[in-house]
Amino acid sequence: MADQAFVTLATNDGYARGAMVLGKSLRNHKTSKKLVALIGPQMSEPCQAVLKRIYDEVKVVDVLDSGDVAHLAMMKRPDLGVTFTKLHCWTLTHYSKCVFMDADTLVLSNIDELFEREELSAAPDPGWPDCFNSGVFVFRPSLETYGKLLQYCTEHGSFDGGDQGVLNGFFSNWATADISKHLPFIYNLSSIAIYTYLPAFKQFGGNAKVVHFLGKTKPWSYTYDTKSKQFKGSMNEASAHPTFLLNWWTLFSSAVVPMLQEQYGDQPFHSGCVEDESSTSLAEATEPQMSSEERKKKWEQGQADYMGMDSFDNIKRKLDTFLK
Ligand code: UDP
Ligand code: GLC
Ligand code: MN
Repeated sequence: MADQAFVTLATNDGYARGAMVLGKSLRNHKTSKKLVALIGPQMSEPCQAVLKRIYDEVKVVDVLDSGDVAHLAMMKRPDLGVTFTKLHCWTLTHYSKCVFMDADTLVLSNIDELFEREELSAAPDPGWPDCFNSGVFVFRPSLETYGKLLQYCTEHGSFDGGDQGVLNGFFSNWATADISKHLPFIYNLSSIAIYTYLPAFKQFGGNAKVVHFLGKTKPWSYTYDTKSKQFKGSMNEASAHPTFLLNWWTLFSSAVVPMLQEQYGDQPFHSGCVEDESSTSLAEATEPQMSSEERKKKWEQGQADYMGMDSFDNIKRKLDTFLK
């Protein structure tokens, strides 16, 4: 349908990579909807060019920043103030209905059925399930709603400093009003849930339709060895939730990197892919080893290294030794 679209947001080149993979995954699963990417003005030309090849519409928007340092500090994510920019999606009034998806999501099967839902439909947040997670949601573009949302931001701000706080404040009856607006968790499966309720993940994880790489470390933060299909450095052992991260990298290295190479031409750029086992890894360079005390603190703050040390594999191994 021409008046329905999947919408994502990328303000910089890192999130642009996420958006490229997300767009490709939607296309691979034969969506009949339009694809729209909202981008920040400082995104590099090559990244914009690649997004234009994957998406039907690439729209430059002003970056809105909550500037709410105090609330963002509570989430340990000072970078998320710019997620206010997400609110621009309500201005896409040439579409009657849209599904917003974070740039760190990946589609595993066709999800066009989401368009049968109404505004505001979303899946529960794994950290506080009476709030919805704003990484995947169904909405109806409307300048009136957009205006009200901005007004809400001015009057009330955001309890988490990002868009999710605003949206949950604004659509405040989501938890109780209408169960049809609760999307099944398989439409926004975040890795955090895998570790907090492993048996459920084992039972239902196979039905996942969308994975969400929620948290500070994103798939594009790693270095991937295309030959051995391993993640370098601290990732080697961990391999994250191995299959999902591998899905992301398989798509990125096979379908996106060639497009980036074409656009960058002679200009140097780091794809994150290596073929040389001996090369220094980004993971090693950016993720120094932590003391167990520091690690415990991080866990308690909800900042476990799910892709690395605290990976599914590592936790499972630990549990297995306990059970033996
Ligand atoms: N985002 C962006 N630039 C940023 C931070 C966030 O474009 O610097 C967008 C992007 O679409 C991202 C979404 O806002 O997926 C929400 O941020 P993120 O996914 O990092 O939050 P999390 O899901 O980890 O809480
Ligand atoms: C959440 C959501 C993300 C949102 C952020 C800030 O963790 O996953 O989409 O941007 O909070 O509110
Ligand atoms: Mn996200």
